Amino acid sequence: MSYKGQFRVWRGDSDGGSLEDFEVEVNEGEVVLDIIHRLQATQAPDLAVRWNCKAGKCGSCSAEVNGRPRLLCMTRMSLFDKDEVITVTPMRSFSIVRDLVTDVSYNYEKAREVQAFTPPEKLQPGEYRMQQEDVQRSQEFRKCIECFLCQNTCHVVRDHEENKLAFSGPRYLMRIAELEMHPLDAADRRDTAQDDHGLGYCNITKCCTEVCPENIKITDNALIPMKERVAGRRYDPVVWLGNKLFKR
Ligand code: SF4
Ligand code: F3S
Ligand code: FES
Repeated sequence: MSYKGQFRVWRGDSDGGSLEDFEVEVNEGEVVLDIIHRLQATQAPDLAVRWNCKAGKCGSCSAEVNGRPRLLCMTRMSLFDKDEVITVTPMRSFSIVRDLVTDVSYNYEKAREVQAFTPPEKLQPGEYRMQQEDVQRSQEFRKCIECFLCQNTCHVVRDHEENKLAFSGPRYLMRIAELEMHPLDAADRRDTAQDDHGLGYCNITKCCTEVCPENIKITDNALIPMKERVAGRRYDPVVWLGNKLFKR
């Protein structure tokens, strides 16, 4: 059954902008990205939105719906009441390009700063041998679709642009943890995690984990183990407090 939904969409560019109200048809089974596309087709042809797969796999359509970071293509309209005004805004932690499109180059810069997988010198490709549990550990982290919702959500940068220089964010600290826990990675990544990528800024609030569309346990399985490796459980009060609060 279709109905007229009420939407408030942020329009503007790097010079500024505002929320604009629209009434758009909503059909059964649709997601928020369908509505944005209908809005483009019927009322706002120049509305900018980044998307690609419409299947939750490319990580392009990240934005905020009623203030919550989400993939637009995986956010079902049935989540909302029919008379609810649905607000769609760009990711808040990145600078605006136009409308719902943000400049996510911060993430690519941080990605480039992570030392690549470094196998032992004498081992040739084809000679790598790993235990199944080590394979599985890596696989959880490799489900990441680089949507940057975790990066957008983490309060360390969300409210503090100035921290971006020193903090690489949960996605890249997770990558460092993945490599640190990799049995064939020969690099010692503990100092660089702390000193160059700002692991100490993370106070394990777990907001990154909450918004991850791949349900990766970023905090429990990557960030806390990495903190333990860096500091040693006894000496890191944040790890100690986290264990008390969240009962791992
Ligand atoms: Fe997105 Fe999850 Fe990857 Fe973060 S870890 S970029 S939230 S898929
Ligand atoms: Fe930020 Fe996630 Fe740590 S939200 S503070 S990186 S647990
Ligand atoms: Fe690819 Fe949404 S369009 S994840």
